[in-house]
Amino acid sequence: MNKENNYIKIFDTTLRDGEQSPGASMNIEEKLKIAEALEDLKVDIIEAGFPAASKGDYEAVSEISKKIKNSSICALSRASKNDIQTAADALKNATAPRIHTFISTSELHMKHKLQLNSDEVYQKVIDSVSFARNLCEDVEWSCEDGTRTDLDFMCKTVEAAIKNGASTINIPDTVGYSIPDEFTNIITHLMNNVPNIDKVTISTHCHNDLGLAVANSLAGVRAGARQIECTINGLGERAGNAAMEEVVMAIRTRNDMMPFQTNIQTEKLTKTSKLVSAVTGFPVQFNKAIVGKNAFAHEAGIHQDGMLKNNKTYEIMTPESVGVSESNLVMGKHSGRHAFKQKIIELGYSINDNVIEEAFENFKNLADKKKNIYDEDIIAIIDDQVIRVNDSILLQDLQVIAGTKGPQKAEISLLIDDEHKTVTSTGDGPVDAIFNGLSQLVPHKGKLLLYQVHAVTEGTDAQAEVSVRLAEDGKTVVGLGAHTDTLVASAKAYINALNKLIIKREKSAPASMSGVTGV
Ligand code: KIV
Ligand code: ZN
Repeated sequence: MNKENNYIKIFDTTLRDGEQSPGASMNIEEKLKIAEALEDLKVDIIEAGFPAASKGDYEAVSEISKKIKNSSICALSRASKNDIQTAADALKNATAPRIHTFISTSELHMKHKLQLNSDEVYQKVIDSVSFARNLCEDVEWSCEDGTRTDLDFMCKTVEAAIKNGASTINIPDTVGYSIPDEFTNIITHLMNNVPNIDKVTISTHCHNDLGLAVANSLAGVRAGARQIECTINGLGERAGNAAMEEVVMAIRTRNDMMPFQTNIQTEKLTKTSKLVSAVTGFPVQFNKAIVGKNAFAHEAGIHQDGMLKNNKTYEIMTPESVGVSESNLVMGKHSGRHAFKQKIIELGYSINDNVIEEAFENFKNLADKKKNIYDEDIIAIIDDQVIRVNDSILLQDLQVIAGTKGPQKAEISLLIDDEHKTVTSTGDGPVDAIFNGLSQLVPHKGKLLLYQVHAVTEGTDAQAEVSVRLAEDGKTVVGLGAHTDTLVASAKAYINALNKLIIKREKSAPASMSGVTGV
């Protein structure tokens, strides 16, 4: 067994399991942006999607495979030839492709979900893994609902998966039911009972229904697992998956107890967390470990006093180690184009000159309104700009009458495919008036699932960042907008969501089935 080897592979599934969070769907540009951030973090394996699930997933895996060259790209598939072939096709351009195939092995799932007996499931393990291995050198196999699976049957299926070519064996706690001691026992049992288990990597995939996903993943590692499947911000089905930032920082901070290492560039964790939160519209709770706004804040007088004397009194890791720095006062209205461009590069962006030019104009406008401009302001300007690059509906003008005497009123002008359109609308509050007007100008059946405002920096002159989630015919989109006027930011976010809805409608055809019969 490779227990002596202390390197832990980090397998990120934000783009696959994370995207399965209700409402967290992302478009292809957003997925590419996140994949680039994950590559930059030095994630070992990026699970980019489930190509047979939809045309969008197929395209995302295919585009990410073309672009990302320093992380392995993995595609998920059920135990069917069609799924596996579709995954292999989507991974065609990947430098280091991996096919991840899975089937349920618990009595409950086999009987009620699959309606198969254990012999039939066993045969499917053999057929699916050997079919995948013929298409790809790197095959991962998962026993879904592993922690509720009979251990003898698990050993039998794991043995078959290894015999037929799987090089990673993943043990999912699909429903987040396990506890650390039990998870340790499962991994230990496999290590002691499955022939050739020492030739493969054992992996953990823990869900967080009982808040134990990180603890279970670390228990798995201490028992011999050498891959952790996780997501940024713990995104994922129901209560989510093990949070990458937590497992990685636990290993780094308690290396005395867990003498393992990962390749993750921890200084980039906060930035990646913010990106995932902005793209999905899922806020990070203030007291979230590692990446929450308060994770390094010290409010109590006794704590502040201790911190002034020695920061180790109340800090077990430094904010800098996860990429949190003091809010940086950057520039004012006299800052020039060159300094602005330098700042953008320093913040980690590589964008073309047209975008920089427009962003510089927006920066100047902001500097006229706002005394202090911080890094966060520049990031909000650039993000706001970048997400609008392909939008065919643009906000031209907005005037709102708000106050105690309703109904509130909005006058809106849009540019829709280069054509000017205007409307005057009313509503129960200014935001309602704006959204009603936008719905008249761009008719749609989208239902508003989320409207969320957050201030980019402190102070009443701060920019507002607004997220809007719309759902239409089972498709969900998240729109974003930033502005010092919360109502303008709200209109921009709603318009951004409408633009994405239109693109989704155009791309909504299901993935083509290649006609290969199921395994
Ligand atoms: O939770 C789960 O069981 C999964 C598998 C597909 C690995 O996500
Ligand atoms: Zn999962």
